[in-house]
Amino acid sequence: MTFQNPRIRVREARPEDRDDVIRVFYAAFDDDVMHQLMHPNGISEDDKQGFGDRTFVKAQPGKRGQPKLFVAEYFSPETHPTFDPETYPDDGSGEIVAFAKWTFHTEPRTDEEWQAEQFSAEHFGDGCDLAVVDAFIGGLNGKQKESAKGEAALFLGILGCDPKRQRLGAGSALVKFGADIADSLNLPCRLEASPMGYSVYKRLGYEALDALDMKVTETWGVKPEGRYWGANNAVDVCGPVPEGVHRTVIMRRPPKV
Ligand SMILES: CC(C)(COP(=O)(O)OP(=O)(O)OC[C@H]1O[C@@H](n2cnc3c(N)ncnc32)[C@H](O)[C@@H]1OP(=O)(O)O)[C@@H](O)C(=O)NCCC(=O)NCCS
Repeated sequence: MTFQNPRIRVREARPEDRDDVIRVFYAAFDDDVMHQLMHPNGISEDDKQGFGDRTFVKAQPGKRGQPKLFVAEYFSPETHPTFDPETYPDDGSGEIVAFAKWTFHTEPRTDEEWQAEQFSAEHFGDGCDLAVVDAFIGGLNGKQKESAKGEAALFLGILGCDPKRQRLGAGSALVKFGADIADSLNLPCRLEASPMGYSVYKRLGYEALDALDMKVTETWGVKPEGRYWGANNAVDVCGPVPEGVHRTVIMRRPPKV
């Protein structure tokens, strides 16, 4: 795995990155079984714009939990043959290959505050199977909430990399970018690791705490063909993954590891 590819640069997202972020998101999760079960009718233009609206949220002064969106640009040898990471200007000419959506909770929440936070599947849109969204995203939300208990932390909500540009180090660069900010604030980071994301996070100092095991084959009759379902992930902490189960791991990275 490439930890630091000099041709990858991370920066805060700008409004003009919206279409690229939408493109990367749906490409990254296209063959993910939970994504497919949540979108049984495929992805409509409304779904895409709804995702864009939820993702490109302006900072709201005074509100707990500030959204932060970062993108990774790739300056390929074909398009930028003389690219020099030290001197090349931040002109947005790189290809957006990955993004990370964070929520910065820089202050702890009281028990009353975090317990009162409710997950709602509704805003995922009409085209979604809301029962699956509730079981999966709601389930992850509940586990993360119980684990974090309102602690101040940087939460990584979504990480996605264009499948055409995976294994170039863009995902790791985005995770490390967030971890460096967390370290500067002396805060931990938290996330829910997909089967593919797990080893990236583990290598960057995240520790497994808990897991959400979805009985996909038993519940929806889908067999584990194609993308990895996480059979080897966090087995030491959360136990073996039964056949036909998709595992997502609740992880935390302590500050300054
Ligand atoms: C997880 C993900 C963001 C990693 O992005 P990336 O830019 O390829 O990551 P890096 O290049 O920094 O790291 C590469 C590591 O990612 C994982 N990875 C990347 N592409 C992969 C692929 N096609 N198949 C399996 N694992 C893959 C591997 O662990 C790989 O390490 P390795 O090369 O030593 O096996 C990307 O694979 C992705 O978007 N996956 C689909 C969406 C997803 O699961 N996101 C995470 C949500 S928590």
